[in-house]
Amino acid sequence: MIAVLNGVNLNMLGERDPAQYGSLTLTELETQIYAWASERGMTARCFQTNHEGEYVDRIHECRGWASGVILNPGAWTHYAYAIRDALEIVQVPKVEVHLSDVEQREEWRRHSVVADVVDHRISGLGPDGYRAALEWLREATAKIGRAHV
Ligand code: DQA
Repeated sequence: MIAVLNGVNLNMLGERDPAQYGSLTLTELETQIYAWASERGMTARCFQTNHEGEYVDRIHECRGWASGVILNPGAWTHYAYAIRDALEIVQVPKVEVHLSDVEQREEWRRHSVVADVVDHRISGLGPDGYRAALEWLREATAKIGRAHV
């Protein structure tokens, strides 16, 4: 079971700058993610919140059930050390995803405080970044012999 944790402002997809984030709503994105997961024999569980403490709680809870984590913390990526520390505790493969190409935008977006506690990073692929993350996790969990369902 793969946890997909979308953070602050990602519930506004579809209304946020489509040049950066595309035109899918969060619900449409999550529907895609569920389909991409099941095509690969995986199960995804998606979650979004605008509350940092709740995001941290969800990360902690992953310890009980997730075999991998895909996270897009939104703007928290750039400064939320509490999220970074929570991720460090969860000992499963973790992939950081950004819809937009954060390296090519404002200077402050180039820095990720979670980068050193994730196993893989993907940005600038739009929704396909989540598919690439599922694919990466499928291969990673196969390699370490852990069931990914
Ligand atoms: C984002 C990039 C962040 O810089 C931004 O604050 C977001 C979304 C992305 O998916 O491209 O909210 O994480």
